[in-house]
Amino acid sequence: MTTLLINIKELLQVRETNVSKVSGSDMKTLPKLENAYVYIVDDKISSFGLMAAIEIASADTIIDCTNKVVLPTWCDSHTHIVYAGDRSQEFVDRINGLSYEEIANRGGGILNSAKKLQETSEDKLFAQSAKRLEEVMKLGTGAIEIKSGYGLTTEAELKMLRVAKRLKETYNFPIKTTFLGAHAIPANYKGNQDGYMDLVIDEMLPKIAEQNLAEYVDIFCEKGYFTLEDTERLLKAAQQYNLTPKIHVNQFNAFGGVALGVKYNALSVDHLEELNDDDISALQGSDTMPVALPSCSYFLSIPYTQARKLMDAGLPVALATDYNPGSTPSGNMNFVVSTACIKMKMTPEEAINAATINGAYAMGLSETHGSITNGKAANLIITKEIESFHVLPYAFGDNNIEQVLINGKVI
Ligand code: NIG
Ligand code: FE
Repeated sequence: MTTLLINIKELLQVRETNVSKVSGSDMKTLPKLENAYVYIVDDKISSFGLMAAIEIASADTIIDCTNKVVLPTWCDSHTHIVYAGDRSQEFVDRINGLSYEEIANRGGGILNSAKKLQETSEDKLFAQSAKRLEEVMKLGTGAIEIKSGYGLTTEAELKMLRVAKRLKETYNFPIKTTFLGAHAIPANYKGNQDGYMDLVIDEMLPKIAEQNLAEYVDIFCEKGYFTLEDTERLLKAAQQYNLTPKIHVNQFNAFGGVALGVKYNALSVDHLEELNDDDISALQGSDTMPVALPSCSYFLSIPYTQARKLMDAGLPVALATDYNPGSTPSGNMNFVVSTACIKMKMTPEEAINAATINGAYAMGLSETHGSITNGKAANLIITKEIESFHVLPYAFGDNNIEQVLINGKVI
């Protein structure tokens, strides 16, 4: 099966040789070709180049991309898309004056989602999650990370991760899974935080590792949730199961979680709405990707991650959705890219680097996804007719995506 995309107005994120991530001032550059082609054999990019130099005369399918932009699909490295029901009532409660924290303290929030998920059958949970996955694929997402963390019992955590695995197999779609048992303290462990950490570490972790249900481990390191001590205990224990950390830190408070993540070689530290100089120093010289989640800042009206500060310090930045029922009921990476430009003052080049190659890095997929490179997965976005790629973030709220290819096939 061969597919040829021709007359592409702008072909973005072209990398002759792959880079695993881009950092600091390099993020300003988004390599592109004008009037280009991409040749796909089966599910992979076989070659690309300028139309003037094209040597391929025929293909099973030819797609004319005149006046259209082509780029790699978004790599969404932080989501919680396996969840049950929604929390739209809490959304209204917040409008009426309650804070996210107050809602959580009276048994809402993550515990509300956990109750719903525990009561939902595995098949129903799969059906609800599959619908979300199909929707984000149409919005241009071509690789995704999915966390557990709305189970909070051993059985329900395993159920979430089995659903994520089933999504991966059903859709033949790149999905990375993360065990987030330490997302909130369940009501029956209130006042017994250590007891819940024992359950996470001694019972959940071994089962998840044994059943090969996750590659990464996560914890909500935050005041009122899990402490630095809990985080260190978990990350240490996870090492023996080869689960790499990707952790929630600095969403509301900065108190050393970033340095701790770096100490345990976290692949990514996510949120960072609060960020201090010690966090920046800890990240410098590390392999840990800082991940910003601007839709969460938007929805909760909390600060945006200081991406400029990170990039000025020579660091990389990745962008992801955080798609979840509580803080970010949206999986739209186009909105994320737009919001990063509008609110975080990232240039379109920086935001697209952050949402493609750096997102791929943040979930261990940059060898196969995140750029237009020969041999990589043919996961591509074809836009509608637009003036230039700047229109993608500029026309916020518009859907400028015409077609999405996953593994070489139009979905
Ligand atoms: O990443 N911060 C922790 N977890 C989620 C939100 C959880 C929820 O409210 O359901 C997040 O924002
Ligand atoms: Fe999250």
